[in-house]
Amino acid sequence: MPKIQGLSYGGDYNPEQWPEEVWPRDVELMREAGVNLVTVGVFAWAWLEPEPGGYAFDRLDRIMDGLHDGGIRVCLATATASPPPWFSYAHPETLPVDADGRRLSYGSRQAICASSPVYRQAALALTEQLAQRYRDHPALAVWHVHNEYACHNAHCYCDVSAAAFRDWLQRRHGDLAGLNAAWGTAFWSQTYTDWAQVQPPRATPTSSNPGQVLDFKRFSSDEHLACFVAERDALHRLSPGVPVTTNLMTASCVNLDHWAWGREMTGPDRLLSNDHYLLGEHPLEPPAQIAFAADLSRSLAGGPWLLMEHSTSAVNWQPRNLAKPPGQLRRDALAHVARGSEGALYFQWRASRAGSEKWHSAMLPHAGTDSKIWREVVQLGTDLRALAEIEGSRTGAEVAVLLDYGSVWAQEAANQPSADMVAFDEIRRWHSALWRAGITADLAPPDADLGRYRLVLAPALYAVTDDAVANLTGYVAAGGSLVIGPYSGLVDECDQVRPAPLPGAFAELLGIRVEEFFPLRAAETVRLDDGSTAAVWTELLAAPDAEVLARYADGPVPGAPAITRRGTAGGPAWYLGTRLADAPLGRLLAEVAAGVGVHPELPGTPGVEAIRRRHADGRSYLFLLNHGDRPAEVDATGLDLLTGERWTGPTRVAAHGAVVLAQPAAEGPA
Ligand code: GLA
Repeated sequence: MPKIQGLSYGGDYNPEQWPEEVWPRDVELMREAGVNLVTVGVFAWAWLEPEPGGYAFDRLDRIMDGLHDGGIRVCLATATASPPPWFSYAHPETLPVDADGRRLSYGSRQAICASSPVYRQAALALTEQLAQRYRDHPALAVWHVHNEYACHNAHCYCDVSAAAFRDWLQRRHGDLAGLNAAWGTAFWSQTYTDWAQVQPPRATPTSSNPGQVLDFKRFSSDEHLACFVAERDALHRLSPGVPVTTNLMTASCVNLDHWAWGREMTGPDRLLSNDHYLLGEHPLEPPAQIAFAADLSRSLAGGPWLLMEHSTSAVNWQPRNLAKPPGQLRRDALAHVARGSEGALYFQWRASRAGSEKWHSAMLPHAGTDSKIWREVVQLGTDLRALAEIEGSRTGAEVAVLLDYGSVWAQEAANQPSADMVAFDEIRRWHSALWRAGITADLAPPDADLGRYRLVLAPALYAVTDDAVANLTGYVAAGGSLVIGPYSGLVDECDQVRPAPLPGAFAELLGIRVEEFFPLRAAETVRLDDGSTAAVWTELLAAPDAEVLARYADGPVPGAPAITRRGTAGGPAWYLGTRLADAPLGRLLAEVAAGVGVHPELPGTPGVEAIRRRHADGRSYLFLLNHGDRPAEVDATGLDLLTGERWTGPTRVAAHGAVVLAQPAAEGPA
């Protein structure tokens, strides 16, 4: 964590967009708002290196000094996410190429091929210059590498990438025989006889080989990760002792294998940080979107993490950009903090006057300080200072929801039985069903040590390795409880169908046998004989060795089992052969959770989200976030750190308000 007392508060600060006269006023206003950490220089490459090798750091020196004089620490960016035009113009081979063979231009941002040695070298050179110049600067608190890797340039199909892809494939598959076997190239006459023939999955007349597409997604994530690791290692070498981070997008980016990234972003002098923006028109409610992003960030970090960016109000990149009503700025920030963030930072400090993001909200809006946003920003600064003692406390979870990027990617391939089976969406939907039930969950990869969870959910685990199968089987054998969703366990990590009975990975564990898939039409629903409804997916299922909890009452396979449960010698294992609607899914998961001893943090107060952070000595903090239009009374006691009020009876949480109750070790449940 940044060496800051208490929680971090601030945002991206882009002084290069403003005349120097504005800078002292920025510092003054940051102090007024209680800002203690700003991210400087994220898109400042052109400002820092206006010509090849001609570094101009004098202005950044003055910024760093000015912030230091104001008592504000700096998360200093390596500025490598967006090379200046002089660079891209001189090195057009560093520009990304899409699957259709179009080379994209500069004039936007992230116009980079991640495999380009020319780009990597230039990025490293700038990083090293910055590290050498600022490593001893007293304002420096964190190094911020790049920005949102793969946000706009996840996959590049150029010749440089093709050569790097072939190297990567040789490391993974050994020889061509291994590659041909893994990709199943006997199908459609795709057998490769020379490595030179192997390409990225560029545009083809019809669907590309799914194994090739899957490997290319893995490769692309690894290439971006290699860029991060190179900069990170340079910073560790030249600036030891200063934490290094890069800002992930856990809820919105499925192009990176975040588990692999998490491994490289945690440990000594490393910090896992995340950016999160609400989607105004999304099937999940805004607080459920936050819960997922934050729970995944915490799970990747294995503990504390930092919210590097979110928005004070509207963003500007959605078709309709919804502003936050009064109170939401505070509640959203606290929702991230409740789930383990050691602070709250924004994009950005001062709203830009020009450029693509001038209509994006900021801490200091165009409207100035006489504004709703500014008043709430100042209030949040006070709130976060009042929460200083929660630093270092942890958010715990007894349930894990499995997320495997390789599986998500395999399922993204063309020619699936139903285009409506979108794994990442389904994982989020199950997570939000738990959120609605008041249960905090971690995310985990299927090969994680799951022993500490009472309940593990696998909403969508289409592709699974033998190791993961053994891990999940071992978890159940040791007494764990597992719920598996439809279209899971069918293929291996090469996207090749596992041997019968289906689902090859889990038929025995679940005591079931899938005979045939019966996907539904777009708006079709089916009824189950327990009264619930489902959509998207049904299958002809037999349950030779499991109890049938519900059968289809209508639809394509009336009478076939829809939900089963196998009571093993270890723990129980459920299978859902269909996509239950939100309400019955929520009921089922809440029932299963209660049955295995997992209960909501705060039973029976609908509309109030309750999350607990706990110190190792047992002192804990109960965050109560009221999402409703009316004040709520909550059966909890303690000292509200935000107001100093001590609640001895029910605690009152204002409409759209927040309360953080400090509770001594004895008061909160263990
Ligand atoms: C991302 C980027 C920022 C900015 C915001 C806008 O998080 O990192 O530079 O573009 O989105 O929402």
